[in-house]
Amino acid sequence: ARILMVASEGLPYIKSGGLADVIGSLPKELVKKGHEVRVVMPLYAPIARKFHDGFQLEAQYTVSISYHEVPVNIWSQMQGDVKFYFVEHKGYFERDNLYGYMDDGERFAYFQKAVIEMLNQLNYFPEIMHSHDWHTGMIPVMCKEGHSFDERYRNIKHVYTIHNLAYQGNFGAEMLDSCLGLDYRIFDNGNVRYDGGISFMKSGILYADKVTTVSPSYSQEILTPQYGEHMEMVLEMRRYDLWGITNGIDIESWNPKTDPEIPYHFNKVNVKKQKAANKMALQQEMGLQVNPDVMLVGVVSRLTWQKGFYLLMEKLHELCQMPIQLCVLGSGEERIEQEMAQLENGNKGKIVFYKGYNDSLAHRIYAASDLFLMPSLFEPCGISQLISMRYGTLPLVRETGGLRDTVNPYNEFEKSGNGFSFANYNSDELIGVLWNAIHVYYDCPQDWKMLVRNAMNTDVSWEASANTYCQLYAQLHP
Ligand code: GLC
Repeated sequence: ARILMVASEGLPYIKSGGLADVIGSLPKELVKKGHEVRVVMPLYAPIARKFHDGFQLEAQYTVSISYHEVPVNIWSQMQGDVKFYFVEHKGYFERDNLYGYMDDGERFAYFQKAVIEMLNQLNYFPEIMHSHDWHTGMIPVMCKEGHSFDERYRNIKHVYTIHNLAYQGNFGAEMLDSCLGLDYRIFDNGNVRYDGGISFMKSGILYADKVTTVSPSYSQEILTPQYGEHMEMVLEMRRYDLWGITNGIDIESWNPKTDPEIPYHFNKVNVKKQKAANKMALQQEMGLQVNPDVMLVGVVSRLTWQKGFYLLMEKLHELCQMPIQLCVLGSGEERIEQEMAQLENGNKGKIVFYKGYNDSLAHRIYAASDLFLMPSLFEPCGISQLISMRYGTLPLVRETGGLRDTVNPYNEFEKSGNGFSFANYNSDELIGVLWNAIHVYYDCPQDWKMLVRNAMNTDVSWEASANTYCQLYAQLHP
């Protein structure tokens, strides 16, 4: 089928979270399976700076926002067999960050409106529009309500994927007609209404033909109040159209045998020796004590409440007493950043914190670490645990969402597993399983070796999941 993915970020252009990994890798896989896939996203300042020379101007037009005609430039670039479109507007998108502004509602209303009109301008009407997360939730609404008189729009089928239900895009109702150009009727009848305003997320869930989320466990969890983020009743209405499809990773760019960012390449056979060499190189680079035998624990993450950092923060004292080194890469909530910086200060040579995002360093942390820590409060899928396993780094996770679906906990009796896990969101459980991992690492090297082998044998590619997406599309466009 002809598929247009609509998303707010995607690699190799820009990334703030796992969504970008998915947008950077799933389209290629779908092309391999015979689909024609294009992607459209906003042209943020860093993309413009880095890639603009290779871009081609596709269209120029205006859309109406708050009774003004606002200009749109559409640029494009081929990325392998996938065509990427970029919506340019300096005022909305030439800023330091991707999100977090007062006018985010207007910015992404503009983006979606520009995308809808782009189809007309380019006379390119996909059979399926596949929209991702709150930034694109109004796409199916705009096709089915705003353009219902036009069969080119009406015929499009819609898939809406929830990568994270915690971010919903809830705004005041006035935006409906001033920015989105939609009739208040769909507010009055409740379709897009949420808590007195409108919700992009809710609208996407109700208006799409199929709703997906990024793991089977999370697709079940979000039907309950504990994980539903007050959207569980809305999701319940779509229960039979809700699919949970686990993310894969791009196994070409995440490949320890060829990864240009790591000093020592490795495979299943020489992983132990080469990982030790990578570890010493990273220890040197980051100012940790150089010692190939100490267990190195890595964290690469957005530093937010979602990722379970509050559990760690309850146990900092104990963490410092453990026979491990800790290397943390990420940025996010100020409170967590401060704690991490302090922790590093009090434990030079043992704990190191790199604030910010650094893709190249992330590769080296995955390659050098023995254990990867991811004690999430909730986790729609999680990408890092998949990368870790591919690099022979055992994930230690909480059994939730995609973590539960992808990590098999160590079983010392059956000699099975590809990582470690704990059930409840509780810092004692976390510390307990961390001590267990430490014990296995130092005292049961045969078991550790078995776990590493299993981790590296785990299929983290898109193969199976891309096939499931194909089945889903086939139901919409036989
Ligand atoms: C979000 C989720 C994460 C998921 C990613 C890609 O970042 O928090 O769990 O892996 O989206 O789907």
